[in-house]
Amino acid sequence: MKKKLDYMAERTQYLFPEGAYSYLSLAGEMESRGREIIHLEIGQPDFQTFDNISKAGIQAISSGKTRYTSPAGITELREAIAHYLKERTGIPISSHQIVVGPGAKPLLFFPMMALLEPGDEVIYPDPGFPSYKSIIDIMGAEPVPIPLKEEKDFSFDMDVFFEKLTPRTRMVIINSPSNPTGGIIPEDDLARIAEASLKYNFWVLSDEIYSRLSYGGETLKSIISFPGMEDRTILVDGFSKTYAMTGWRLGYALMPELLADKVELLLTHSVGCTASFTQLAGIEALKGPQEQVDYYRSIFKKRRDFIVNGLNQISGISCRMPQGAFYVFPNVSSFGRKSEDLALHILNEAGVCLLPGTSFGQNGEGYLRLCYANSLEAIEKALEKIEEVLRKI
Ligand SMILES: Cc1ncc(COP(=O)(O)O)c(C=O)c1O
Repeated sequence: MKKKLDYMAERTQYLFPEGAYSYLSLAGEMESRGREIIHLEIGQPDFQTFDNISKAGIQAISSGKTRYTSPAGITELREAIAHYLKERTGIPISSHQIVVGPGAKPLLFFPMMALLEPGDEVIYPDPGFPSYKSIIDIMGAEPVPIPLKEEKDFSFDMDVFFEKLTPRTRMVIINSPSNPTGGIIPEDDLARIAEASLKYNFWVLSDEIYSRLSYGGETLKSIISFPGMEDRTILVDGFSKTYAMTGWRLGYALMPELLADKVELLLTHSVGCTASFTQLAGIEALKGPQEQVDYYRSIFKKRRDFIVNGLNQISGISCRMPQGAFYVFPNVSSFGRKSEDLALHILNEAGVCLLPGTSFGQNGEGYLRLCYANSLEAIEKALEKIEEVLRKI
């Protein structure tokens, strides 16, 4: 029995588990009792970290590169990231604007800690990555959710966006391609958000962790590339999804240098620095061959087409074709059941672990999220089992 600890700081009341981890544990318990589960919940590539990257990490450890580094990251890695982002965004970038951290998550957390005061309003996508709202809450700021519209391929509802802007809007969080919907914000909308940022003076935190996973063949434009946005954008990215490095913990963000200095201090007094060998592996990831990234994107694209097609053949489900990331967000409202009930029902009855849309905010009601970073065989089997269970509802 857990005791109620009434001496905890108020901010702890805003801490909630992340759906993906909760469902992963639930499925783990079932597996420990001998049940076979197909995993479509947690968002990570199903393949190994590329060989050249692993070898660079191993080589770093065996040659003794296992010491503290500068809190903002090893210079060579910051330079490699600055070079990569310069090519991607087309704007001049200094390595002093780059901060490296243990995963992309700390690069969401610490810039928000450096910028937000209690009472500041922060606009964020709903459904959206659950850490956004939690971090806003922890900082004592006001979360202002903006619905993502299915009929707009899950892009921001721009009318609601403009309605919700106030003089207290301090930050707008965008995530394109998006977790959980796979949606991409069209360039026109990015331009309107950028224009509003300049006019109303708010920060844009642009989470671009899925930027290399877009299926339209184009390089996605970052909001930082719009004129004037380099002074008010924090561009967050990382190695977890692109290079299958989720467990290595390596992410980074690009931001104005003055802010980078403060974020470095927050890292100094929290994590100290990011693991040295992880950073050295990161240099190899960026400077080494990129064909594997392209290869796995093409694999994901096949799986996306397969799962969307399969879901749309199940009576009662309708699923849009997402343009990025490795998630689908099918509409299951026709079953008249809460998303959470449906997800648990599918887990218990079909042995398929997926997530309710509400793990990503209230506007996720009526949807499920499936991660298709799994083999075609596993996806096919999962679809059969889901169909069988839903047919009986
Ligand atoms: C949208 C989004 N941002 C950030 C992260 C965190 O990435 P990392 O594992 O590098 O901390 C994730 C991971 O699922 C994500 O989906």
